[in-house]
Amino acid sequence: MVNLLSCILLFLLSLHCFVACLAVNTKNITTDQYALLAFKSLITSDPYDILSKNWSTSSSVCNWVGVTCDERHGRVRSLILRNMSLKGTVSPNLGNLSFLVMLDLKNNSFGGQFLTEVCRLRRLKVLHISYNKFEGGIPAALEDLSQLQYLYLAANNFSGSVPQSIGKLRQLKVLDTFQNRLSGPIPQSISNLSSLEYIDLSSNYFSCTIPEEIGYLDKLELLVLGDNS
Ligand SMILES: *[C@@H]1O[C@H](CO)[C@@H](O)[C@H](O)[C@H]1NC(C)=O
Ligand SMILES: *[C@@H]1O[C@H](CO)[C@@H](O)[C@H](O)[C@H]1NC(C)=O
Ligand SMILES: *[C@@H]1O[C@H](CO)[C@@H](O)[C@H](O)[C@H]1NC(C)=O
Ligand SMILES: *[C@@H]1O[C@H](CO)[C@@H](O)[C@H](O)[C@H]1NC(C)=O
Ligand SMILES: *[C@@H]1O[C@H](CO)[C@@H](O)[C@H](O)[C@H]1NC(C)=O
Ligand SMILES: *[C@@H]1O[C@H](CO)[C@@H](O)[C@H](O)[C@H]1NC(C)=O
Ligand SMILES: *[C@@H]1O[C@H](CO)[C@@H](O)[C@H](O)[C@H]1NC(C)=O
Repeated sequence: MVNLLSCILLFLLSLHCFVACLAVNTKNITTDQYALLAFKSLITSDPYDILSKNWSTSSSVCNWVGVTCDERHGRVRSLILRNMSLKGTVSPNLGNLSFLVMLDLKNNSFGGQFLTEVCRLRRLKVLHISYNKFEGGIPAALEDLSQLQYLYLAANNFSGSVPQSIGKLRQLKVLDTFQNRLSGPIPQSISNLSSLEYIDLSSNYFSCTIPEEIGYLDKLELLVLGDNS
């Protein structure tokens, strides 16, 4: 009897835990709205009043300018805010947009470090942050973006070396780090990226030794290395 009771108790306890854990882990469109509002709150300049007028809680985030949602999950699928002269830093809450496939902030004035939180976006295929003012290093955790196909980091102020872990991005087709302050050797692991079609590492401070194995990348159409030290 005591045994049965404790069994039931245990069952109820674990059920409670299960439900509680579900509640904590379940993200929905409200999470996405919260993440985008956090993103908006760190924008210090929006000269054309694009987000300040349009990103209003009176309409669904799926109708916000630059945002598209995924039909199947009803979650944010892409965030595309090009040429908007937006200034500020990127909120770490962006890492909660767990269904994001495309993040394109090209040609604004976003600054600060490359967000390690972005590495939580496991479904991301396109990361386009060229022509901004991002600085600091490229995190090794980038390897977590296993679906990534397009990585555009050009014309920022990234420094330090490119982590070897970049060699884990097996889907990568484009690697563009044009015009930054990256240095050190070009990671040998790049030669493992057999999907690569386009590499532009020009206008950095890479030491000019090209890993021989890059010659084995048979899909590679363009390799630009000019203007390095
Ligand atoms: C999202 O989940 C939270 C609890 O985690 C809930 O309060 C909210 O109503 C949900 N929103 C939608 C749109 O389902
Ligand atoms: C925001 O912009 C979208 C796309 O341009 C438009 O459809 C929507 O009506 C706008 N919403 C508001 C509240 O201005
Ligand atoms: C951004 O600006 C560039 C240069 O003016 C232009 O070629 C491009 O079409 C613009 N993109 C968008 C999405 O407005
Ligand atoms: C960036 O956007 C501005 C307009 O906001 C445009 O004049 C400029 O040509 C764009 N530059 C690039 C590199 O797209
Ligand atoms: C979203 O991300 C931020 C920072 O990364 C975190 O503090 C927050 O609790 C996360 N979760 C939700 C549901 O917003
Ligand atoms: C780039 O970052 C360095 C410091 O790491 C700073 O001295 C320099 O002014 C920055 N350049 C630009 C264009 O922001
Ligand atoms: C390339 O990938 C193979 C298999 O995963 C691994 O053993 C090797 O160390 C990688 N080469 C480099 C240079 O990272």
